[in-house]
Amino acid sequence: MLVGNTSVAGSLIQILDRGDPLPEDPLEVLCPRATFGGDSSGARMVCNCHKVSEARLRQAVADGAATVDALSQATKAGTGCGSCRTELAQLLGAAHGPPPAKVAAAS
Ligand code: FES
Repeated sequence: MLVGNTSVAGSLIQILDRGDPLPEDPLEVLCPRATFGGDSSGARMVCNCHKVSEARLRQAVADGAATVDALSQATKAGTGCGSCRTELAQLLGAAHGPPPAKVAAAS
């Protein structure tokens, strides 16, 4: 049961469904963007469906992917179960800032 931020629910369900082993430090699954003095190399897997690492995604962003769809097209991340798409958006937001707010049409 997750309370509060449930963004990792998809990843957890996928791990349970597949019977994948948990990482040595389970906090890597529960708090994927937190740093616990561990890996800063970008080797962390963001998209488990297609085994796309954070480093690969950062490279795709540096190469010009500016939307989740562009990032998915460049890396295949987010084209499986879709549970990582929120994190793809967060990576883009960290790189480019939040998306512009929608402006209501004038009447
Ligand atoms: S984890 Fe399923 S599409 Fe990325």
